[in-house]
Parts: sequence; C-alpha cells; structure tokens
Amino acid sequence: MTNIGWVGLGKLGLPCALTLTNLAEVQHEVFAYDVDPYLEQRVQSKNPYEARLSDLSRNNLHISPDVTSVVSNSDGVVFLAVQTPHEASYGGENYMPDEKKDFEYKYLRAAAAEISSAAEDLNKDITLVVVSTVLPGTMREYIFPVLSPRVNLVYNPFFIAMGTTVNDFSNPEFVLTGVDDPSHVEPVKDLYATLHSKPVQVLSIESAELTKVAYNCFISMKVVFANTIMEICHKTDADCDEVIDSLSLATDRVISPAYMRGGMGDGGSCHPRDNIAMSWLAEKLHLSADPFYFVSLARETQARWIADLIMEAQSATGLDVVILGKAYKPESNLSNGSPALLVYNVLHLLRRNNIRIQDHHVDGTAILTDCPAVFLIGTKHKQYASQSFPAGSYVIDPFGYIADQPKVTVVRIGRKSRRV
Ligand SMILES: NC(=O)c1ccc[n+]([C@@H]2O[C@H](COP(=O)([O-])OP(=O)(O)OC[C@H]3O[C@@H](n4cnc5c(N)ncnc54)[C@H](O)[C@@H]3O)[C@@H](O)[C@H]2O)c1
Repeated sequence: MTNIGWVGLGKLGLPCALTLTNLAEVQHEVFAYDVDPYLEQRVQSKNPYEARLSDLSRNNLHISPDVTSVVSNSDGVVFLAVQTPHEASYGGENYMPDEKKDFEYKYLRAAAAEISSAAEDLNKDITLVVVSTVLPGTMREYIFPVLSPRVNLVYNPFFIAMGTTVNDFSNPEFVLTGVDDPSHVEPVKDLYATLHSKPVQVLSIESAELTKVAYNCFISMKVVFANTIMEICHKTDADCDEVIDSLSLATDRVISPAYMRGGMGDGGSCHPRDNIAMSWLAEKLHLSADPFYFVSLARETQARWIADLIMEAQSATGLDVVILGKAYKPESNLSNGSPALLVYNVLHLLRRNNIRIQDHHVDGTAILTDCPAVFLIGTKHKQYASQSFPAGSYVIDPFGYIADQPKVTVVRIGRKSRRV
C-alpha cells in the first residue's frame, strides 16, 4: 500500500486521484487537498460526462484540511495539479486577441511554495510531481526558485482528454516525465508500475514541458490540414473522406514518425513545387486558410535562419564557409529542391563571400575539409559522421549526428550539447 499526496482536485486531479485509489494493482490511499470550498460536494457528485468516473469508489480518497497534512500523510510522492489558466480571450470560442501571453502561473507557484515549506517544516524529503500544463522554461523560472532542497521535482504532464480522463490516465500511450536527475523519477515509475506497464519517457524538464504542448499543437495542425482538404473538396469535385481515408493508409510516410526529425528543410523534385502549386490553388479557390503558403514560407525563413547561424559563426571566427551536401536525399546525388542549395543561394543573395558548397555524391570529388572552416552539414550523408574536421573548425549540424571532435566546435542544432 502507498500513501500518495495530491494537491488540486479539479477536472484533471479528481478523476486521476480516484483512478489511483481504484484501478491500481495495489491498494493506494490518496491524501488530497483543494482550496475549493465545494470540494466535498464535487467529490461525491457523479459526472455523467466523464466515462467510468461514477463507478469509482471514493473510499480511499481522504480530503485533507491543509497541504501540511497531505505532505505528512504521504509516503513522499505528492502530485500537484492546479490550474494554469489562459487569458479569458484565449479559449477558442472567439477570435483570438492581437496580444499573446503565457499561461498564468501564480496558482502553481503558490501551491508549490506551500508544499515545499510543509516539507521543510516536517523535515521530510519529498518528490513533487507537477502535472499542470506550462510552456518550456516555466519550472526553471517560476517553480524551482520556491522549492527547498528537500523537494525533488518531477515534471509529469498528462495526456488526458476531458470525458475520458480515467481511461487516459490508467491506459496512456506513454508516461512523460522531465527531471534534472534521472534518479528522481524512480518513485514515480514505481507508482505507475502499479497502474499499467506503459513506457515512462524520462527527458529533461524543458523537453518534457515542450513535448506536452507540442502534442496538443500537433493535433491542432492535423485538424487544420484535414479541414483544408475538406474545403478544397467542397470547392472541387473531390471528396474529403475519400482523400483522408486514402492518406490514412500511408502509414509508412504520412501517418508515422517518418520525416519528424529536426534537420534541413523539406526537399525533392515534388514537395516544394507541390506546396507552391497548392498555394496557387488556395488563392484560386479563395480558401479560408492557406497552410501550403505557410509551409513554403517557413521552409524559406528556416533556411534564412540557418544562413544567419552560418553568418554569425563566420563573423565570430573569420573563417570561410563550406556547405557539405547538395543532395536533398542522403547517399544520393539527387539535388532537385535541395534545402542545402537554398541556404547557399540565400547566402549569395545576402552577398556573403567565401561560401562554397560541395557534395561528393553529386560532384564526384573528395570531401572538402582541407582547411578549417565554418561547415554546414547540408545533407545527412553517412560519411560526414566519420569525417575528421580540421582543428579550429566550426561545424553546424542540423541533424544532430556529428560527434564532438578535439579542437572543433560542433553545434548540433536544438540538441543538448552532450556527445552523440
Ligand atoms: N482538464 C484536463 O483534461 C487537463 C488535461 C491535461 C492537462 N491539464 C492541465 O492540468 C492542470 C489542471 O487542470 P484542471 O482542468 O484540473 O483545472 P481545474 O481548474 O479544474 O482544477 C484546478 C484545481 O486546483 C485547485 N487549486 C488551486 N490552487 C490550489 C492550491 N493552492 N491548493 C490546493 N488546490 C488548489 C482549484 O481549486 C481547482 O479545484 C492545468 O494546468 C491544465 O492545463 C488539464
């Protein structure tokens, strides 16, 4: 039996706390606190819109009078699931406002501070499991400063949809955690092992914070894409269910992790031109939104951003620039629609001097690493990973596969600076 602490029994917290006390293999008791004066009524009331919630017994959920008794009664794991509200105008029921803002973290910070000072007062080491949704960097900026050394923080957002909270919590796709020290997650893993055998992802805190919101935003992008197809179909003789059903069969490339890697932009003889042509169609059909234009433009602005990284490195080092790779496809000489060539052309438009581009598969020459330079890995050719770069070089690697080398600066874009 485990005694679990829980602070914040709202739409998410209450069903999840009840799931722990009812559906785990062992008999857990949850000691919970919520500032809501109507909590007792909410705990007892049946919610017909939450599948399976009404079936769960309330017997092992103990409402505590304060945070101190939650911390004191727990065996050391305390969940925190208070609200991180958005601006009222961000709900999605109205046009979004011009001004954008972060979520509000005052409730989360206050509750974390209260739990931490209870642990301090009780001389008790605890694992604080923060569930609330936040943007990347929030734990570091707002929560760590109010935590005592007695608190090990695990960021553990749930992928839960209203209406299916019990099922989503007891049978998730995976468990997402973010920690500074991997040993901190062990009590949380042990607890989930009593509920299901789904994988527990252990990331950095910032990666976990981003993964949570990226998950939701990815779904939103899929919805926009499907609705764009629907609108095109409405304005042509195509049928959106036929189109989407067919795309759904493409489980190798489309509905799969394929292409979901940070790297250079999309390329090839079809993709860039198809998006531009579809953007033309979007204009012709007066589509309400044109994601194809966004995709085409983003491909270019991201190439410009890579060019900026190169120019910064060039200004800092005074070295020439060599783009390694012209092909858009690794281990090939196919360079139509090449994002590496796009970066090269952007640098030329910006009138940068001393820029070369080279690809042993395309040009049939040796790999150009005779002098120290700022290198951009423009194509993920295997050979570049085993290449030794001259001392003093600066290697920009969008694919994250070039290992550290002595006297060479390797920048694996968007990756932690650890060795590959
Ligand atoms: N509801 C969902 O399906 C869902 C899904 C995924 C993530 N989330 C995230 O989980 C968090 C909680 O969401 P929610 O929908 O349960 O919010 P909610 O507003 O329904 O519940 C929050 C609860 O926390 C309580 N609370 C606030 N401050 C407190 C304090 N200092 N001490 C004790 N209790 C306190 C409130 O009284 C309330 O009952 C949010 O960050 C949300 O974005 C929610």
